[in-house]
Amino acid sequence: MAYNDLFIRACKRQEVERIPVWYMRQAGRYDPDYRKIKEKYSLLEICRQPELAAEITMMPVRKLGVDAAILYSDIMNPVASLGVEFDIVKNIGPVIEHPLRTAADIDRLKPIDVESDLSHILETISILDRELDVPLITFAGAPFTIASYLIEGRPSKSYIRTKSMMYGEPELWFKLMDKLGDMVIAYLRAHVKSGGKAFQLFDSWVGTLAPKDFEKYVLPTITRIFAELHDLDVPKIYFPGVSSGELLGSLIHIEADCIGLDWRVSIQEGRRRTADRYTMQGNLDPYVLTAPMEIIKQQAKEIIDEGIESPGFIFNLGHGLFPEASIDKLKELTEFVHSYSEEAIVR
Ligand code: CP3
Repeated sequence: MAYNDLFIRACKRQEVERIPVWYMRQAGRYDPDYRKIKEKYSLLEICRQPELAAEITMMPVRKLGVDAAILYSDIMNPVASLGVEFDIVKNIGPVIEHPLRTAADIDRLKPIDVESDLSHILETISILDRELDVPLITFAGAPFTIASYLIEGRPSKSYIRTKSMMYGEPELWFKLMDKLGDMVIAYLRAHVKSGGKAFQLFDSWVGTLAPKDFEKYVLPTITRIFAELHDLDVPKIYFPGVSSGELLGSLIHIEADCIGLDWRVSIQEGRRRTADRYTMQGNLDPYVLTAPMEIIKQQAKEIIDEGIESPGFIFNLGHGLFPEASIDKLKELTEFVHSYSEEAIVR
């Protein structure tokens, strides 16, 4: 089959004959075949088996007909190379054995060594580079989001310890941002070298910050990451996560190609807030997928109508798929995005 480069063209704001679509967390628990594999292996065990991780990455491409694959991995994987011990605990998420709380904890972090500590991830990427006929998106967690796990020790609603370090010990905070920034840069560079065709920086929880604090404590590192990776000839996506609408106005000067939106800001408004500088990706509320199919299509149609108004649009959800999502509805939605947008673009 011919290589499908719709997603790449949309990232570059080139013409497309239909709108590309993929879903955050498209490899996951809504799929019974994935759940079967998870009965035998944990997420981290799967990541250490490149053939299996590659197979899981390809499952949603085959089953749903999406226009891009996202590497099966987790944002926590690279921190193992810094010397941080963690586990992904069922129904909780990442849990850190010894959360980072002091200057000594942060000084102890080692520089990342992707080639020796994370060779299994690079091997998975190489396999996928050979097998896929759609682009492979690889990803990293952004420094704030990773720091929130490292400092809190587990998922948090308040980010109390993270914010306490950020506001109370800014020197320590910036040292941690620098180290995590270096980690992300080396990690994503290695992905592209191994065959990754695009990457997304997930800043899932940074929407908890006020814009002025985002600009002061986080944005300099985000700006540096995209500047240092600018020479890589692949599309670069920044996803500022849930409730990030108020941060969009701060994002007009990063060297990314695409910004992911959650569902609280329309595509048109997202474009306006980012000075129409980027491809927009999003932004159906994932829980709309619990509604009857005609409601899902109506909401998708409204998003697509705004998306195709100017070049550069990728259909996605506003956040990750959830375990109860219906695989049949996802398939029908994917087909609908393709057929509806193909007609609408001709018009
Ligand atoms: O399909 C894909 O999107 C690729 C795989 C992927 C996973 N994690 C696998 C995974 C991706 C892109 C991630 C990124 C990730 N991990 C993020 C950023 C995206 C987002 O949702 O905001 C974050 C915050 C994490 C940290 C993390 N890992 C959480 C919060 C959880 C959920 C805990 C739970 O049980 O709900 C995980 C575990 C995880 N990572 C799962 C998957 C498929 C679910 C559990 C499992 O199948 O083992």
